[in-house]
Amino acid sequence: MERYLNRAKTLVEALPYIQKFNNKIVVIKYGGSAMIDENLKESVIKDISLMKLVGMKPVVVHGGGKKINEMLAKVGIVSKFIDGLRVTDDETMEIAEMVLSGNINKNIVQLFQQQGIKAVGISGKDGKTISAKKMLLEGKDLGWVGEIENICPELLISLIEDDFVPVVAPIATDDDNNTYNINADYVASAIAGALKAEKLVYLTDVEGVLRDVHDKKSLISKINIKDIEKYKEKEIITGGMIPKIDNCAKSIEEGVNSVHILDGRMEHSLLLEVFTNSGIGTMIFK
Ligand SMILES: Nc1ncnc2c1ncn2[C@@H]1O[C@H](COP(=O)(O)OP(=O)(O)OP(=O)(O)O)[C@@H](O)[C@H]1O
Ligand SMILES: [Mg+2]
Repeated sequence: MERYLNRAKTLVEALPYIQKFNNKIVVIKYGGSAMIDENLKESVIKDISLMKLVGMKPVVVHGGGKKINEMLAKVGIVSKFIDGLRVTDDETMEIAEMVLSGNINKNIVQLFQQQGIKAVGISGKDGKTISAKKMLLEGKDLGWVGEIENICPELLISLIEDDFVPVVAPIATDDDNNTYNINADYVASAIAGALKAEKLVYLTDVEGVLRDVHDKKSLISKINIKDIEKYKEKEIITGGMIPKIDNCAKSIEEGVNSVHILDGRMEHSLLLEVFTNSGIGTMIFK
Protein backbone atom coordinates (compact mmCIF):
# COMPACT_ATOMS: atom_id res chain seq x y z
CA MET A 1 0.00 0.00 0.00
CA GLU A 2 2.79 2.39 0.97
CA ARG A 3 4.35 1.93 -2.46
CA TYR A 4 1.13 3.11 -4.11
CA LEU A 5 0.77 5.98 -1.70
CA ASN A 6 4.27 7.13 -2.58
CA ARG A 7 3.43 6.96 -6.23
CA ALA A 8 0.33 9.06 -5.64
CA LYS A 9 2.41 11.60 -3.73
CA THR A 10 4.94 11.77 -6.55
CA LEU A 11 2.17 12.48 -9.02
CA VAL A 12 0.72 15.23 -6.87
CA GLU A 13 4.18 16.76 -6.45
CA ALA A 14 4.41 17.02 -10.22
CA LEU A 15 1.07 18.84 -10.40
CA PRO A 16 2.44 22.43 -10.25
CA TYR A 17 4.81 21.61 -13.11
CA ILE A 18 2.08 19.94 -15.13
CA GLN A 19 -0.05 23.06 -14.62
CA LYS A 20 2.79 25.40 -15.48
CA PHE A 21 3.58 23.68 -18.76
CA ASN A 22 0.03 22.77 -19.75
CA ASN A 23 -0.45 23.57 -23.45
CA LYS A 24 3.06 25.04 -23.64
CA ILE A 25 5.48 24.27 -26.43
CA VAL A 26 8.69 22.58 -25.32
CA VAL A 27 11.41 22.15 -27.95
CA ILE A 28 13.79 19.26 -27.35
CA LYS A 29 17.04 19.01 -29.28
CA TYR A 30 18.10 15.39 -29.21
CA GLY A 31 21.82 15.16 -29.91
CA GLY A 32 23.11 12.49 -32.22
CA SER A 33 25.82 11.59 -29.78
CA ALA A 34 23.29 10.72 -27.08
CA MET A 35 21.14 8.69 -29.49
CA ILE A 36 23.43 5.74 -30.07
CA ASP A 37 22.16 3.49 -27.25
CA GLU A 38 18.82 1.95 -28.25
CA ASN A 39 17.48 1.43 -24.71
CA LEU A 40 18.32 4.96 -23.77
CA LYS A 41 16.69 6.30 -26.89
CA GLU A 42 13.49 4.45 -26.05
CA SER A 43 13.62 5.84 -22.53
CA VAL A 44 13.98 9.42 -23.82
CA ILE A 45 11.05 8.91 -26.19
CA LYS A 46 8.96 7.58 -23.28
CA ASP A 47 9.79 10.69 -21.24
CA ILE A 48 8.72 12.95 -24.11
CA SER A 49 5.58 10.83 -24.58
CA LEU A 50 4.70 11.37 -20.94
CA MET A 51 5.17 15.12 -21.34
CA LYS A 52 2.82 15.02 -24.30
CA LEU A 53 0.20 12.96 -22.46
CA VAL A 54 0.10 15.36 -19.51
CA GLY A 55 -0.69 18.27 -21.80
CA MET A 56 2.61 19.71 -23.03
CA LYS A 57 3.37 20.24 -26.69
CA PRO A 58 6.77 18.77 -27.39
CA VAL A 59 8.64 19.39 -30.64
CA VAL A 60 11.71 17.24 -31.29
CA VAL A 61 14.71 18.37 -33.35
CA HIS A 62 17.42 15.79 -33.83
CA GLY A 63 21.06 15.75 -34.85
CA GLY A 64 23.03 12.79 -36.09
CA GLY A 65 26.69 13.60 -36.67
CA LYS A 66 27.90 10.22 -35.44
CA LYS A 67 25.50 8.21 -37.63
CA ILE A 68 26.50 10.27 -40.68
CA ASN A 69 30.16 9.54 -40.01
CA GLU A 70 29.39 5.81 -39.67
CA MET A 71 27.54 5.77 -42.98
CA LEU A 72 30.23 7.75 -44.80
CA ALA A 73 32.76 5.19 -43.60
CA LYS A 74 30.50 2.31 -44.64
CA VAL A 75 30.16 3.56 -48.22
CA GLY A 76 33.81 4.55 -48.33
CA ILE A 77 33.47 8.29 -48.81
CA VAL A 78 36.63 10.03 -47.68
CA SER A 79 35.91 13.58 -46.59
CA LYS A 80 38.01 16.64 -47.24
CA PHE A 81 38.70 18.89 -44.30
CA ILE A 82 39.52 22.58 -44.18
CA ASP A 83 41.19 23.57 -40.92
CA GLY A 84 39.74 20.54 -39.20
CA LEU A 85 36.19 21.15 -40.45
CA ARG A 86 34.52 18.61 -42.71
CA VAL A 87 33.60 19.82 -46.20
CA THR A 88 30.06 18.73 -47.09
CA ASP A 89 30.44 18.00 -50.82
CA ASP A 90 27.61 16.64 -53.03
CA GLU A 91 28.19 13.01 -52.05
CA THR A 92 28.42 13.80 -48.33
CA MET A 93 25.23 15.88 -48.52
CA GLU A 94 23.40 13.00 -50.16
CA ILE A 95 24.40 10.64 -47.34
CA ALA A 96 23.66 13.24 -44.65
CA GLU A 97 20.13 13.74 -45.99
CA MET A 98 19.52 10.00 -46.23
CA VAL A 99 20.69 9.42 -42.68
CA LEU A 100 19.00 12.43 -41.08
CA SER A 101 15.68 12.71 -42.95
CA GLY A 102 15.38 8.98 -43.54
CA ASN A 103 16.96 6.68 -41.04
CA ILE A 104 17.12 8.73 -37.82
CA ASN A 105 13.96 10.77 -38.35
CA LYS A 106 11.70 7.83 -39.11
CA ASN A 107 13.21 5.75 -36.34
CA ILE A 108 12.23 8.42 -33.78
CA VAL A 109 8.73 8.66 -35.28
CA GLN A 110 8.34 4.91 -35.00
CA LEU A 111 9.41 4.93 -31.36
CA PHE A 112 6.75 7.55 -30.55
CA GLN A 113 4.10 5.55 -32.33
CA GLN A 114 5.07 2.48 -30.30
CA GLN A 115 4.07 4.55 -27.26
CA GLY A 116 0.73 5.37 -28.85
CA ILE A 117 1.81 8.96 -29.53
CA LYS A 118 0.99 10.51 -32.90
CA ALA A 119 4.22 11.74 -34.49
CA VAL A 120 5.18 13.11 -37.90
CA GLY A 121 8.74 13.33 -39.16
CA ILE A 122 9.66 16.20 -41.41
CA SER A 123 12.84 17.83 -42.60
CA GLY A 124 13.23 21.56 -42.99
CA LYS A 125 12.34 21.05 -46.66
CA ASP A 126 8.76 20.03 -45.88
CA GLY A 127 6.40 22.97 -45.97
CA LYS A 128 9.52 25.09 -46.54
CA THR A 129 9.86 25.05 -42.77
CA ILE A 130 13.56 25.99 -42.94
CA SER A 131 15.09 28.16 -45.67
CA ALA A 132 18.85 28.38 -45.66
CA LYS A 133 21.83 29.83 -47.44
CA LYS A 134 25.41 28.74 -47.59
CA MET A 135 27.31 29.37 -44.40
CA LEU A 136 30.78 30.77 -44.89
CA LEU A 137 32.92 30.19 -41.85
CA GLU A 138 35.43 33.04 -41.68
CA GLY A 139 35.28 33.13 -45.47
CA LYS A 140 35.88 29.36 -45.80
CA ASP A 141 33.55 27.42 -48.10
CA LEU A 142 32.59 24.18 -46.35
CA GLY A 143 30.22 23.01 -49.07
CA TRP A 144 26.56 22.40 -48.29
CA VAL A 145 26.63 23.58 -44.71
CA GLY A 146 23.77 25.98 -44.30
CA GLU A 147 22.79 28.80 -42.06
CA ILE A 148 19.14 29.55 -41.41
CA GLU A 149 17.57 32.40 -43.35
CA ASN A 150 13.96 31.89 -42.40
CA ILE A 151 11.66 29.62 -40.41
CA CYS A 152 8.13 29.15 -41.68
CA PRO A 153 6.29 27.65 -38.68
CA GLU A 154 3.01 27.00 -40.52
CA LEU A 155 3.42 23.24 -40.94
CA LEU A 156 4.72 22.79 -37.39
CA ILE A 157 1.78 24.74 -35.99
CA SER A 158 -0.78 22.69 -37.87
CA LEU A 159 0.85 19.44 -36.76
CA ILE A 160 0.85 20.60 -33.13
CA GLU A 161 -2.77 21.70 -33.41
CA ASP A 162 -3.66 18.28 -34.79
CA ASP A 163 -2.07 16.65 -31.76
CA PHE A 164 1.08 15.35 -33.48
CA VAL A 165 4.59 15.52 -32.09
CA PRO A 166 6.66 17.03 -34.91
CA VAL A 167 10.09 15.43 -35.35
CA VAL A 168 12.42 17.67 -37.35
CA ALA A 169 15.58 16.70 -39.27
CA PRO A 170 18.06 19.57 -39.69
CA ILE A 171 17.99 19.67 -43.49
CA ALA A 172 16.97 22.78 -45.40
CA THR A 173 16.59 24.16 -48.88
CA ASP A 174 16.88 27.46 -50.74
CA ASP A 175 15.14 29.04 -53.74
CA ASP A 176 17.64 27.40 -56.12
CA ASN A 177 16.77 23.86 -55.08
CA ASN A 178 19.98 23.29 -53.12
CA THR A 179 20.06 21.08 -50.05
CA TYR A 180 21.85 22.13 -46.87
CA ASN A 181 22.87 20.37 -43.72
CA ILE A 182 22.45 22.62 -40.69
CA ASN A 183 23.73 22.07 -37.19
CA ALA A 184 20.62 20.88 -35.33
CA ASP A 185 21.41 23.20 -32.42
CA TYR A 186 20.65 26.18 -34.69
CA VAL A 187 17.47 24.54 -35.91
CA ALA A 188 16.19 23.82 -32.38
CA SER A 189 16.84 27.36 -31.28
CA ALA A 190 15.30 28.98 -34.36
CA ILE A 191 12.21 26.77 -34.10
CA ALA A 192 11.85 27.50 -30.38
CA GLY A 193 12.00 31.21 -31.20
CA ALA A 194 9.55 31.00 -34.10
CA LEU A 195 7.06 28.93 -32.07
CA LYS A 196 7.52 31.15 -29.00
CA ALA A 197 8.29 28.03 -27.01
CA GLU A 198 8.17 28.08 -23.23
CA LYS A 199 11.23 25.89 -22.90
CA LEU A 200 14.17 24.69 -24.96
CA VAL A 201 16.15 21.65 -23.82
CA TYR A 202 19.35 20.36 -25.39
CA LEU A 203 19.87 16.67 -24.64
CA THR A 204 23.50 15.89 -25.32
CA ASP A 205 26.25 13.44 -24.37
CA VAL A 206 27.74 15.31 -21.40
CA GLU A 207 26.40 16.30 -17.98
CA GLY A 208 25.96 19.92 -19.10
CA VAL A 209 28.55 22.65 -19.54
CA LEU A 210 31.70 21.54 -17.71
CA ARG A 211 34.51 23.76 -16.50
CA ASP A 212 36.85 20.92 -17.44
CA VAL A 213 35.49 18.55 -20.12
CA HIS A 214 37.39 15.65 -18.54
CA ASP A 215 35.92 16.18 -15.07
CA LYS A 216 32.21 15.50 -14.80
CA LYS A 217 32.15 16.96 -11.31
CA SER A 218 33.03 20.37 -12.77
CA LEU A 219 29.47 21.03 -13.94
CA ILE A 220 28.49 24.68 -14.21
CA SER A 221 24.84 24.62 -13.17
CA LYS A 222 23.93 28.18 -14.17
CA ILE A 223 25.36 30.44 -16.86
CA ASN A 224 24.38 34.05 -17.31
CA ILE A 225 24.27 34.89 -21.02
CA LYS A 226 26.53 37.87 -20.44
CA ASP A 227 29.35 35.50 -19.37
CA ILE A 228 29.18 33.28 -22.45
CA GLU A 229 31.86 35.16 -24.42
CA LYS A 230 34.20 34.89 -21.44
CA TYR A 231 33.78 31.10 -21.32
CA LYS A 232 34.51 30.91 -25.04
CA GLU A 233 37.55 33.19 -24.85
CA LYS A 234 39.00 31.09 -22.03
CA GLU A 235 38.34 28.00 -24.19
CA ILE A 236 36.24 26.42 -21.46
CA ILE A 237 33.46 26.05 -24.01
CA THR A 238 34.71 24.58 -27.30
CA GLY A 239 33.66 22.34 -30.20
CA GLY A 240 30.11 21.00 -30.21
CA MET A 241 29.21 23.03 -27.12
CA ILE A 242 29.70 26.36 -28.93
CA PRO A 243 26.64 26.22 -31.21
CA LYS A 244 24.55 25.07 -28.25
CA ILE A 245 25.57 27.86 -25.94
CA ASP A 246 25.41 30.56 -28.65
CA ASN A 247 21.92 29.45 -29.55
CA CYS A 248 20.80 29.27 -25.93
CA ALA A 249 21.57 32.96 -25.62
CA LYS A 250 19.76 33.73 -28.88
CA SER A 251 16.64 31.85 -27.80
CA ILE A 252 16.49 33.66 -24.48
CA GLU A 253 16.78 36.97 -26.34
CA GLU A 254 13.89 35.82 -28.55
CA GLY A 255 11.69 35.23 -25.53
CA VAL A 256 12.04 31.52 -24.74
CA ASN A 257 11.56 31.38 -20.99
CA SER A 258 13.93 28.67 -19.96
CA VAL A 259 16.85 27.02 -21.70
CA HIS A 260 18.73 23.97 -20.41
CA ILE A 261 21.56 21.70 -21.48
CA LEU A 262 21.07 18.20 -20.07
CA ASP A 263 22.72 14.80 -20.16
CA GLY A 264 20.74 12.70 -22.63
CA ARG A 265 22.64 9.60 -21.44
CA MET A 266 21.20 9.90 -17.96
CA GLU A 267 17.88 8.14 -17.65
CA HIS A 268 14.94 10.51 -17.09
CA SER A 269 17.08 13.66 -17.03
CA LEU A 270 14.33 15.33 -19.03
CA LEU A 271 11.61 14.37 -16.52
CA LEU A 272 13.78 15.52 -13.63
CA GLU A 273 14.24 18.89 -15.29
CA VAL A 274 10.60 19.36 -16.28
CA PHE A 275 8.78 17.92 -13.26
CA THR A 276 11.08 18.71 -10.33
CA ASN A 277 13.38 21.46 -9.16
CA SER A 278 16.37 19.12 -9.05
CA GLY A 279 18.53 21.65 -10.88
CA ILE A 280 20.37 19.08 -13.02
CA GLY A 281 22.41 20.04 -16.07
CA THR A 282 23.18 23.63 -17.01
CA MET A 283 20.57 26.36 -17.01
CA ILE A 284 21.20 29.41 -19.18
CA PHE A 285 19.67 32.65 -17.93
CA LYS A 286 19.65 36.37 -18.52
N1 LIG B 1 32.77 23.10 -21.58
C1 LIG B 1 32.24 22.02 -22.13
N2 LIG B 1 31.40 21.25 -21.42
C2 LIG B 1 30.85 20.14 -21.92
N3 LIG B 1 31.06 19.70 -23.19
C3 LIG B 1 31.90 20.41 -23.97
C4 LIG B 1 32.52 21.61 -23.48
N4 LIG B 1 33.28 22.11 -24.47
C5 LIG B 1 33.16 21.26 -25.50
N5 LIG B 1 32.33 20.24 -25.25
C6 LIG B 1 31.99 19.15 -26.17
O1 LIG B 1 30.69 19.30 -26.71
C7 LIG B 1 30.20 17.99 -27.00
C8 LIG B 1 28.69 18.02 -27.28
O2 LIG B 1 28.41 18.49 -28.59
P1 LIG B 1 28.25 17.50 -29.85
O3 LIG B 1 28.07 18.36 -31.04
O4 LIG B 1 29.36 16.52 -29.87
O5 LIG B 1 26.95 16.64 -29.50
P2 LIG B 1 25.41 16.93 -29.85
O6 LIG B 1 25.25 18.33 -30.34
O7 LIG B 1 24.63 16.53 -28.66
O8 LIG B 1 25.09 15.91 -31.04
P3 LIG B 1 24.85 16.27 -32.61
O9 LIG B 1 25.92 17.25 -32.99
O10 LIG B 1 24.97 14.97 -33.30
O11 LIG B 1 23.49 16.83 -32.73
C9 LIG B 1 30.62 17.20 -25.81
O12 LIG B 1 30.65 15.82 -26.05
C10 LIG B 1 32.02 17.78 -25.50
O13 LIG B 1 33.03 17.02 -26.12
MG1 LIG C 1 26.41 19.07 -32.08
